[in-house]
Amino acid sequence: MFGLQKATQLTPADDEAATLRWLAEQYAYPPRPSSPPCLPRPCVRANMVSSIDGAVTVDGRSGGLGGPGDKMVFRVLRALADVVLVGASTAVTEGYRQPSPDDAFATDREAREQSPAPALALLSRSLSIPDDYPPLANADTIVLTCESAPADRRSALADAGATLIDCGADTVDVHTVMDVCAERGWIRVLSEGGPSLLGALVAADVLDELCVTTSPTLVGGDAGRIIGHDGPADLRRMRPESFITDDDGFVFTRWVRASADDA
Ligand SMILES: NC(=O)c1ccc[n+]([C@@H]2O[C@H](COP(=O)([O-])OP(=O)(O)OC[C@H]3O[C@@H](n4cnc5c(N)ncnc54)[C@H](OP(=O)(O)O)[C@@H]3O)[C@@H](O)[C@H]2O)c1
Repeated sequence: MFGLQKATQLTPADDEAATLRWLAEQYAYPPRPSSPPCLPRPCVRANMVSSIDGAVTVDGRSGGLGGPGDKMVFRVLRALADVVLVGASTAVTEGYRQPSPDDAFATDREAREQSPAPALALLSRSLSIPDDYPPLANADTIVLTCESAPADRRSALADAGATLIDCGADTVDVHTVMDVCAERGWIRVLSEGGPSLLGALVAADVLDELCVTTSPTLVGGDAGRIIGHDGPADLRRMRPESFITDDDGFVFTRWVRASADDA
């Protein structure tokens, strides 16, 4: 009934290039179908960090929970992805910038026929993104919104150079978001949150993998959980795929959607 699964120790300082390569193997997306009958459904992975007691923020941001190993995993997950999905409020709060090409992974990305860096897709119903938010004008950023978004915000962001795509009437429909990703050939999707976006992905049942970094910290207070969703609770089974630890006490878990065989 019980098995002892020893976690793999990650020692980032030893040989950075080798560690990055090893991590990229651990976190590889499933292979793309060679000749799909129709557009392949994107594989959706989310990456979140929390404290031992489940807090996703300290003083309103996740940065205080991170560490060097966590930054390395974050970097590798980006290097594997076609697109980074992020809620607009997280992008603005956390000061997101356009993902830039990572030399360490340039050859691998080319071999997988990926662009040098993942695209950035921001979700927002309200379009309350500052007009001068730097990634907006980048050709590799899209804003996924809905038809009911305020017209004044829509034109202000369009004037700022943003590419806006409607994904539903009154809400940003996650299944339509997946269709937009598939149409653009973005089948390796990485959600970096926040909790509301992860909640929407889980509620729509499109989440395939969840990577959770447990920070060796206790936070207390009233910080939220990694999934923020006000719908009904719903039990979904996941299967542990890997456990990695680092010298600083962080634990990196990768959970994948459980199949009927896992029951
Ligand atoms: N620990 C971690 O790993 C982690 C990761 C990311 C963020 N965070 C923290 O989480 C906090 C933000 O939490 P949050 O829950 O507000 O983050 P969030 O998921 O980024 O918030 C939702 C944002 O997504 C937009 N959105 C649009 N359509 C959506 C849809 N269908 N479903 C869900 N969201 C949609 C909302 O835009 P509109 O308001 O315009 O509708 C809103 O800006 C920040 O303090 C951030 O630092 C922690």
